[in-house]
Parts: sequence; structure tokens; C-alpha cells
Amino acid sequence: HDPATRRRRLTMQQLSLMILVIQNSVLVLVMRQSRRPADAPLMYLASTAVFGAEVIKLVCCTAMLYWTTTTAPFSVAALGYFMKHQVYDLVMDGRALLLMMIPSGLYAIQNNLLYVALSHLEAATFQVTYQLKILSTALFSMLLLDRHLTRQQWAALLLLMVGVTMVQLSTVTTTTTTEEVEEDDPASVTWIGLMAVLASCVSSGFAGCYFERLLKSRSSGPPVSIWVRNIHLGICGSLFSFVGMVIYDRQRILDDGFFQGYDGTTYWVIMNQALGGIIVSIVMKYADNILKAFATSLSIILSSVISVYLFDFRPSLSFMAGTCIVLLSTYLYSRPTYPTSKPD
Ligand code: C5P
Repeated sequence: HDPATRRRRLTMQQLSLMILVIQNSVLVLVMRQSRRPADAPLMYLASTAVFGAEVIKLVCCTAMLYWTTTTAPFSVAALGYFMKHQVYDLVMDGRALLLMMIPSGLYAIQNNLLYVALSHLEAATFQVTYQLKILSTALFSMLLLDRHLTRQQWAALLLLMVGVTMVQLSTVTTTTTTEEVEEDDPASVTWIGLMAVLASCVSSGFAGCYFERLLKSRSSGPPVSIWVRNIHLGICGSLFSFVGMVIYDRQRILDDGFFQGYDGTTYWVIMNQALGGIIVSIVMKYADNILKAFATSLSIILSSVISVYLFDFRPSLSFMAGTCIVLLSTYLYSRPTYPTSKPD
């Protein structure tokens, strides 16, 4: 790459990571707000929210594809031409769609498994075990992306896990009560929850690195644009989440409608989730999945710091120690004294 391209990529990398930190912090805060006792008689159905976010993502990515590929001023005729030629040829590519079945199917399963995990484990256990996705991401980065990590970087990742765990545990005990845990057979219930969370960690690492590999691959012809890849993922994701919605909530939707229990916050959560998916894909293109793990960890801290002002959250000693460890690990990981990946 020439220096100008390299500089542009670096700017995009830093910008995308910063936006991810901010977006993720807002998401955490809005979710926390939406979980507060509301006076609405009905709770919104999560399956409709997931489906809604997929469809919004699909529409946004199609708009971005239009914007980046069409030079003519916007008109119905130009849009018609674009839909007929660009979208049909680029998007209805059976092989590319088939390739996307894997990550979108995994993301769909992962979202459901996380729900299983949350209802079978105590919040603290869940938060701690879910941090293993940092390690699975690093492992799949080696296996699928041929990335090489130094010993110092492995140590930084272990520190990151420890730091995030401490931060998460301190927020769990000070701001939330334990989630509903089913009582009947505690041992088997915990076991089911643990298996679900471990499977989610493997899925998160694999699907993320698989998508990154597709975004960055240059072996088969000209690179496919990030918007086209996201449209493929969105088509599969919409199908999977639609099927999930019909299976889980068909009767409830028929009885009380798709938008039951929706309020202003629900739309915020859905928009934020759709936007989050797009930002995650930009981070995977310009940075990578491991840097994404650092960004989301930092956003957990940022959202807690904001909670001090918004929700009267009092940071404990272990929160502050965890924060220091996360910051130290971020510094250790990014110290530019060694190559972070094999040269292309
Ligand atoms: O927990 P994890 O980091 O694996 O979650 C990634 C999230 O980003 C998933 O919910 C997935 O649906 C979303 N995503 C997306 N578009 C992409 C890649 C990931 O919406 N291109």
C-alpha cells in the first residue's frame, strides 16, 4: 500500500473503533434503561426486535450500496435501474449467499443461546464465562485469519479477560439483582446454562473471524464490497430471525400484534442494534475482531462511568482495579514494538 492509502486505513481503523466504543456504551445504557420497571402492561417480544433490526440493517446497507455505486442524482428511475442491475446481479449470487448462511445461522443460534444462558445462570456466572469469547476470538484469528500473536499479546488478552470480569462482577453486584434462575434442579440447570454460554463464545469467535476473512479475502476475484457482504448476511439473518419469530411467538403476535409492548426505548434499542451490526462489520474490515473485543470492553467501562451520573452508580474498588487492568492490557496489546499480523 502507498502511504496515503495506509494513512486512510489507519484513520478509518481508529474512527471505526471509537464509534464502536460510543455506540456500544449507548446500547448498554439504553438497554439498562429499558430493563427498568415500566408501566407498560406488555413486554415487547425479543424475536420481533431481532427481526426488525435485521430488516433495518438490510435497508441501510442497500442504501449505502446505492450511495457508493450510483453517480446519477437520486430519482425513481435511477433507483429502479440500481435495483434491477446492481442488486439483482450482485446480491442474488447463490454461492455468496450460501457462504453467508454459516455466520448468519451461527449468529441466530448464538442470540437464542444467550437467552438460554441468561435464564439458566446467575448474572455473575454468565458475565464471567462470557468473557471466554475473547480467547475464542484470538484462537479463531489464528486458525482462520493466519494471525500471529506474540506472547505479550496473549498475556494482554488474558489480562483483558480478568479486567472485564472484575468490572462486570462489580456492576452486577452493585446495580442489578440476580437474574431469574430456575429452581428445580440447580446442578443440571447450571450445566445447561454453562454449555449455552460456552457454545455462544465459540460461535461468536468463529462467526466473527469467518466474516472478517470473507471481507478481507482477495483470492477469488475482485474484493466484494462490505455493503454487498452485509446485504448477503442481512438476507440470511432476516430469513433465520423470521423463522425464529414464527416458531417462538406466532400465537402471541397473532393475538396482540407485532408491535405489542413497544415504546420509545424499544425503537431506540432496535435502531441501535441495527447500527451496531453495521459498525461491527466496518470494524472487522478496517481493524479486526481482537481490536473489536478491546473496544467493547472499554465501552463497558465507559457506560459504567456515565452511569455514575445517570443512575447513581457507585464504582467499587474492584471496578476501579478492573478498569486499570483493562487499560493496561489495551496498552500492552497495542504497543507497536512487534508485528501484529503476518505481512499480506
Ligand atoms: O458478541 P459478538 O461480538 O459476537 O456479537 C456480534 C454481533 O454483531 C451479533 O449480534 C451479529 O448479529 C452482529 N453482526 C452484524 N453484522 C455483521 C457482523 C456482526 O450485525 N456483519
